[in-house]
Formats: sequence, C-alpha cells, structure tokens
Amino acid sequence: MKLSATTSSICVVVVLLLTISCEASAEDLSDRYLECLNRHSRDISASVHTPKNTTFANILLQSVNNLRFAKPDTPKPLVIITPVRGSQIQSVIYCCRKHGIEMRIRSGGHSFEGLSYVSPVPFVVLDLVEFKKFDFEAKSKTAWVDSGLTNGELYYRIGEASDRLGFPSGLWGNVGVGGIISGGGYGMMMRKYGLAADNVIDARLIDANGRILDRKSMGEDWFWAIRGGGGGSFGVVLSWKVKLVPVPKTVTVFKVTRSVEQNLTTIFHRYQSVAPKFPKELDIRATGQSIVTNSSPRSDKKTMVMRFESLYLGGLDRMLLVMQQHFPELGLLREDCSEVSWLQAMLYFSEFDLHMSPQILLNRTILPRTPFKGRSDYTQVPIPVQGLEGLWEMMYKLPPRKGTLQFTPYGGRMDEISESALPFPYRSRTLYKFNVLVDTETDEEARLEWLRSLARYLTPYVTKNPRSAYVNYVNLWMGTNNLKGTTSYEQASRWGKRYFKNNFDRLVQIKSAVDPDNFFRHEQSIPPITL
Ligand SMILES: Cc1cc2nc3c(=O)[nH]c(=O)nc-3n(C[C@H](O)[C@H](O)[C@H](O)COP(=O)(O)OP(=O)(O)OC[C@H]3O[C@@H](n4cnc5c(N)ncnc54)[C@H](O)[C@@H]3O)c2cc1C
Ligand SMILES: *[C@@H]1O[C@H](CO)[C@@H](O)[C@H](O)[C@H]1NC(C)=O
Ligand SMILES: *[C@@H]1O[C@H](CO)[C@@H](O)[C@H](O)[C@H]1NC(C)=O
Ligand SMILES: *[C@@H]1O[C@H](CO)[C@@H](O)[C@H](O)[C@H]1NC(C)=O
Repeated sequence: MKLSATTSSICVVVVLLLTISCEASAEDLSDRYLECLNRHSRDISASVHTPKNTTFANILLQSVNNLRFAKPDTPKPLVIITPVRGSQIQSVIYCCRKHGIEMRIRSGGHSFEGLSYVSPVPFVVLDLVEFKKFDFEAKSKTAWVDSGLTNGELYYRIGEASDRLGFPSGLWGNVGVGGIISGGGYGMMMRKYGLAADNVIDARLIDANGRILDRKSMGEDWFWAIRGGGGGSFGVVLSWKVKLVPVPKTVTVFKVTRSVEQNLTTIFHRYQSVAPKFPKELDIRATGQSIVTNSSPRSDKKTMVMRFESLYLGGLDRMLLVMQQHFPELGLLREDCSEVSWLQAMLYFSEFDLHMSPQILLNRTILPRTPFKGRSDYTQVPIPVQGLEGLWEMMYKLPPRKGTLQFTPYGGRMDEISESALPFPYRSRTLYKFNVLVDTETDEEARLEWLRSLARYLTPYVTKNPRSAYVNYVNLWMGTNNLKGTTSYEQASRWGKRYFKNNFDRLVQIKSAVDPDNFFRHEQSIPPITL
C-alpha cells in the first residue's frame, strides 16, 4: 500500500501519541504499584529498583543469562524487587494482584526463553538474589537451601560443611537452585542419585494468597508438583530442604576430545548404548561442535569434535578398570585423568580449571554468556552411523563452534524411579537426553531456521508420541498460553504432554486447586482447567 506524505506523517503522529500515552499509563501503573508496596511493607524501599534508580540496569542484567533477551527492544519490568524477607514477598504479591500486574520470579535467571525477566504485558520481577541462606544439619545430613543460591554457591557451602557430602544438581555454577530444582535438575551424579528434585524432602513456598506453606501444610499433591513441574506455576519457592548425598573423599575426572579423523563416529555410536549401562558411579557426558582443522579431508576443512567429560565416584585405578571393561573404544589413558575432591570436580564441570580456588564458584557473573536458542529431545535407541554422519553434515552448515550438541546418558538410578513419582517422566527406557544449542549472535533468523531444520532431521531418531522435551530447556516453539483469557487443555497439552507425559493432567488438576486465578503464570505455565 502507498501512503501519501501527509497520511504517513499523520500516522507517525498517531503512533507517537499512542506510545506516549502507553508510557504515561505504564508510569501511572508503576507509581500506583510502588505506593501500594511502600504502604504494605515499610522496610522495602532499599529492595525496590525502578528504571529511575541507577541500580536498575545492573540488577536486571546480572541475571540475564541468555543475551537474546538483553536487546534494547526486549520488554523491561516496571520494577525489580530484591526482597530480603518473606513478608516483603507477600506485599509484592498482594500489590501485583491488586493492580493486575504480572509477576515473574527469578532465581538464577537461566531460563532458556528469559521467562523470569521478560513478559509481553506490564510486569514486575521478584528477584530472589538476596535469598541465600544455607542451613546445614550434620546429624540428618540435610540442608535448607534458599532459592537464591546458585549451584556453585550450594556446592561451595556443602564443601565447607563436609568433604564427604555432595548434591546432585547441575553443572554450571551460576544456574539458580530456584529454577533448576523446579524443573527436575540433572548433573554429573544423576546416574547415581537421580535428579536434584528426587532429593528434596521439604520446601517452603508462598502462594497467591501470601500464605507461607511447607510440605505438611501444602500437602503431598502440591509438594509433588513443585518438584519437576517447572518454575513459575505453583508459587514462590523460598527454600528447599534437601538430602545431601555421600561422595568419596576423592573422585576421578577427565575431559578428552575425539574428532571424526580420530574415529569419533564409531566411538560415539558405541557410546550411545554403553554410557546408559555403565555402573552408577560413572557418568560420561558428551558435547560436540564443528571446528576447522587442516587434518580434515573435507574441502571446507571442517570436522566434528566431541568432548567426553566424566565423573567417577571412586579412585583412578578402579575407574580405568571400569573403562577397560565397558568402553575401551574411547582409548582413555591414565594421564588423561585426575583424582580430586568432589568440590574441585564440580568446579571443573562448571568450565573452570581443575585446580582453581573453589571461591570462584561464588562469582555469579564470571561465566561467559551468549545469545542462544536451545531445544531438547530424548532417545530410546542409538542413532545409527548413517544418521550420525547426516548429523555432522547438519553441523557443517553452521560456522564452526556456533552449534553445540549435548548428550546426557541416563540409566542407573534413573531406571529405578517410576514415571509418575515426580512430574518429570523420562526415567527408564531413556538412553540419553539430547540437547542442541545454537548461537544467535549473528544471523539470528538463519540460525533459528537451522535449529528448526535440525529438529526435523532428528525426528526419526528421537522419542515421539509425544515428542519428548525437558521443561528446564523451556522452548516456546511448542506453543504458549493465551495472553488474555483462558488457555484450553488441548492447547496447553501441546507442550505440557511433551514435558510431562501423563503427569501433565495431574499438574493441571493441582494448579486448578491451588491457583485457580492463575496468578503464577508465564508463556508456558501450567494453566488452571477444570478437567
Ligand atoms: C548455561 C546453562 C546451563 C545449564 N545447565 C543445566 C544443568 O546442568 N542441569 C539442568 O538440569 N539444567 C541446566 N540448565 C537449565 C536450567 O535448569 C534451567 O534454565 C532453570 O530453569 C534455571 O533456573 P534459574 O533459577 O537459573 O533460572 P530462572 O530464569 O530464574 O528461573 C527459571 C524458571 O523458574 C521460575 N522460578 C525461578 N525461581 C523460582 C522460585 N524460587 N520459585 C518458583 N519458580 C521459580 C522462573 O519464573 C522461570 O520460569 C542450564 C541452563 C543454562 C542456560
Ligand atoms: C530507588 O529510588 C527510590 C526513590 O528515590 C528510593 O526510595 C529507593 O530506595 C531506591 N532504591 C534503591 C535500591 O536504591
Ligand atoms: C581408527 O580405527 C581404525 C580401524 O579400526 C584403526 O586402525 C585406527 O588406528 C583408529 N584410529 C585412531 C586414531 O584411533
Ligand atoms: C566476578 O567475575 C567478574 C568477571 O571476571 C569480575 O569482574 C568481578 O569483579 C567478579 N566478582 C567478584 C565478586 O569477585
């Protein structure tokens, strides 16, 4: 359509006026909200950050871990609140409900889709970064762990308390325990001890009415839902009570890489079926990228390299025997391995050098960040050699190192837990989780299209009906809740069944009972629906 100069300038004026009036009303809303907060919580002002405070940008960005959501046009919250007390959270919730403002809960800020700090409607961020208590009880080997702690902080505190205890949470030090446990949480000890959520025995939560509940007062259904049903649907988890797990005084670790020229295809093909059958004490995860190297016979000089990284809960001699017996194809050498404490091993899997001071786990901002999109699958059968070769070809379509494949073998303890014990359903018969990440720093549209085509390529090889996915790798391509009004069961099933299989129905029932007004919501939160 062609616009005359006058019509288009009128349009510009109209758009400008609309923007100004939107901004004015956002400011009004924010003022009314702040007034409510200050009235209800006299001590809250030092924890309130509006765009007018110089602290705002820093507080917002320090926990933005996907830079795809750090663009100038990414929607920003009206206010960020960093409470130090539960009563302040009660006020935050009360005032959000009173003024019809959405609230996003943020712990570590690692949501793949930025759900903890971005919303399409006016919103505030409840940032739990100041909730950092770690209360260890030696006799029961349990601890109350605040949601604002990161994995790294948790591991560091456990290390201070004992060199014979650990916890099976995730690899990266700056991921928050608030989010990771809410969606299950796997790490290098999953094959021995299951998910992080499998080791939670109590929790403190604030509901939409501001009540502070624990396992006993919320009841077993609700307590079931928060251990794997995904963050942001069932309340604000303040703190988890976890069962710490025994670890040996020294464990054995290695990271070795193999390229296609070093027989990666054969080695990885074998890995797929042996890794899920290793003794529980051994976990080897694999991460693949394409690189450019002179030793590649290809004309574009590309090859695939895969890093095999391993934790063995035992000594080196024993590990070498286990490797010889189960996976000689890797060609592991004694000098590839190191014996270290469990805490040092956690540092190593967080991408730090093996012998750095564990203090570094306390730094929330030191790890590199990129803009990215990720998606997950699970497999039940090994991908055949030909399928792997096609997968490498897909990787060569991207510039080197811009795509990452991550393989997390299952088996062990995961086989012993039933599909409905927690909302997280992928237990026995799963060979491994298969995660693909793509860097979107440049050519965002083309990179996203590449990821879509890779997803199509993988269809014959991965778990289907429903196509499986991990809720902690939240992916809005599967669909979203309606912005206004209700969302139907059929609509929400499109992602709900993929994350939770039949547990989705129970999650919906629980949601309907505990948050019928749908206060705790985001693009893929569990909707309340009367089934
Ligand atoms: C670099 C990186 C490494 C990762 N490594 C692992 C890994 O090793 N293992 C693994 O299992 N996963 C891993 N993940 C995925 C991770 O588990 C999820 O992204 C998880 O949701 C992050 O939790 P968070 O507190 O850091 O994120 P946030 O973005 O703060 O929260 C994630 C979701 O949970 C909600 N939420 C947060 N805190 C609370 C709370 N206290 N109560 C209720 N809801 C809450 C948020 O609203 C949001 O919807 C990784 C992700 C990234 C980006
Ligand atoms: C932000 O500014 C307001 C108004 O000046 C002030 O009351 C509040 O304490 C400031 N917040 C922080 C964290 O400094
Ligand atoms: C790769 O496999 C071939 C055939 O099995 C073998 O001869 C060769 O030594 C292997 N190469 C490496 C680097 O392991
Ligand atoms: C954390 O690491 C960053 C990046 O290296 C550094 O700038 C910052 O000072 C560190 N923070 C603390 C508290 O040590």
